[in-house]
Order: sequence, then structure tokens, then C-alpha cells
Amino acid sequence: MRVAVFSAKPYDRRSLDAGNKAFGHELTYYETHLDPLTAPLAAGYPAVSVFVNDDVNAEVMAALAAGGTRLIATRSAGYNQIDLAAAEAHGITVARVPAYSPSAVSEFTVGLMLMLARRIHRGHQRVRQNNFELEGLQGFELHNKTVGILGTGKIGANVARALSGFGCTLLAYDLYPNPSLADVVRYTDMAELFGLADIITLHVPLTPETHHLINAATIAQLKRGMMLVNTSRGGLLDTPAVIEGLKSGQIGYLAIDVYEEEDELFFQDLSDQVVQDDVFARLLTFPNVIVTAHQAFFSHEAL
Ligand code: NAI
Repeated sequence: MRVAVFSAKPYDRRSLDAGNKAFGHELTYYETHLDPLTAPLAAGYPAVSVFVNDDVNAEVMAALAAGGTRLIATRSAGYNQIDLAAAEAHGITVARVPAYSPSAVSEFTVGLMLMLARRIHRGHQRVRQNNFELEGLQGFELHNKTVGILGTGKIGANVARALSGFGCTLLAYDLYPNPSLADVVRYTDMAELFGLADIITLHVPLTPETHHLINAATIAQLKRGMMLVNTSRGGLLDTPAVIEGLKSGQIGYLAIDVYEEEDELFFQDLSDQVVQDDVFARLLTFPNVIVTAHQAFFSHEAL
């Protein structure tokens, strides 16, 4: 089958070429995102492969259908970038990765918590400058802390199991509680979780219901000085409200692997350019904030 692969990085080519040896599909790689301007590149391709920052909205879907595309396969677990109603209207099938490295993302999530809690990122920077002073590096232990897990699907469940090993008290909220976690977490409502958790980690997908789940009103309900970790999707946070929460001290620590406006930034080397996104730039100024760029899933090249 002819497949147009958008947002293709060298590591995508390597793993897809390796995986394709057994199938012999005709893969055409495009470095560009899929959006209304680039959709004509897919004309004549029955299948299109996309990633998290491709914008497969209704306009793109119409262009794909007109060009003969019948299948969109996203190289991600989340599918918030794809207008499913438009796909159905055009008879286009959408496929996703059912489980995207749950252990990779959950291990990374716990790593971010440890970095923030023990200020490992700050200690590492100091020692590189021959500064061996401890003042300002005092951290806290995860042991005995209350962690709230929003979303206990594949990734959230792994995080819960890992954190139970640290001796954390685990609260969880999910539309569909996971019976396999009955001995590990206590399910509760979001209000109690927000009020009790020392650490909150987000593992729900981005949907209209979860968009800006963390906003000025919910931030006001959080335990003062808490830690917020988001390795799910940027749109779960109202970032300007989170920045206000950081400035006031309501949020004491923040780690994000995703950012709502990441499509202008992530997956590219902008080190010699002036970043135009002032909200993102402000995030990078906080000593108690760690930002990574979709690194959580990236643990093994040969998928
Ligand atoms: P999953 O589908 O196994 O779990 C999602 C859970 O969220 C389910 O248990 C579901 O019931 C729950 N949920 C859905 N809507 C909800 C709502 N409104 N309120 C409460 N719970 C709700 O997904 P998985 O594999 O655990 O991945 C979770 C998310 O992680 C993905 O949607 C994706 O956005 C993100 N992800 C991020 C990666 C990264 O590189 N940072 C890599 C892979 C996934």
C-alpha cells in the first residue's frame, strides 16, 4: 500500500523502514506536519501516517478523502489531533497505537517526580559548575506522600504500581475505575483528590471534557505547594493559570513533557532562534519547573 508518512523524523524512518521489511509497503516520508496547506501531498495515498502535532481537522479530512485516502494511522496512543466525526463522515478509518510504551511513559513520569522532589536537576547543574553547596537543594521524599492519579488506564496504572513501591498513599480518579488496582489505589472524586494530594499526575486523554482540567478554579482547590506532573497532553493545563499558580506558590513544583502550543516548538532544534511564545518562555524561568519535549515515550528506537 502507498503510505504518506507526515512529521517524519530520522528515527521514524529507521523504525518504520525496519518494520516495513516484512510488509513491503511503499512509504513516502514528509518532514512537514499534515495541515490544510500540506494535505495535497497525500493525494493518491490510500493510507496516511500522522503523529501528535499533525492537525487532522475537518478541512484536512475532506482534502484527504478527495485524494483517495481511506486510512489514517496515528503513531500515538492519543488521538485528540484527529476529527473523528469528520473521518466517519468521509468513511475514513482511523487507527492508533493501542498501548504506547506504558512502561516508558510511567517510568519517565516517576523520574520527573523524583527530579523535582529532590531537586536533582538543580544539583546536577551546580556540580557541573564546581558548586558543591547543599543550601537550597533540600528536597522531600515520596514515601508517605499522597499522590493523586487522574486516569488509571495503561500508563496511570503503571504509575500507581510504581509509586506503591515508594510507600505513597494513592488516590485515583477515572471514569472507569481499574479493578486490577483495587489493592493499590483508593478511587475518589476529583474534588477530594485535588484537596488531599501532595502530588498530582495526569494520565487522562485530551478530550472536550478534560481540556483545561487544571485551570484557575481547580488550582484554587489544590493543596498549597503541591507538585503537578503532566506527561499526557498539553491541553489538559490552562498554562497561563498554572504560571499564576507557580508565582503565588499554590503550585510548588511542575513537570511537563507536553505543552498546549508545542506544535510550534517541539521535535525541532530551535537553539539558534528567538522563541516567540512568551508563556512557554516564562515557564522556563522557574527553578521549580522541569520541561521536557515529548521525551517520555522515547525509550527504544526499534519499536
Ligand atoms: P488509556 O486509554 O489506557 O487510559 C486513559 C484513561 O483515562 C482510561 O482509563 C479512561 O477511562 C480515562 N479517562 C478518559 N476520559 C476521562 C475523563 N474525562 N475523566 C477521567 N478519566 C478519564 O491511555 P494510556 O495509554 O494510559 O495513555 C494516557 C494518555 O497519555 C494518552 O491519551 C496520551 O495522551 C498520553 N501519552 C503521552 C505520551 C508522551 O509521550 N508524553 C506517550 C503516550 C501516551
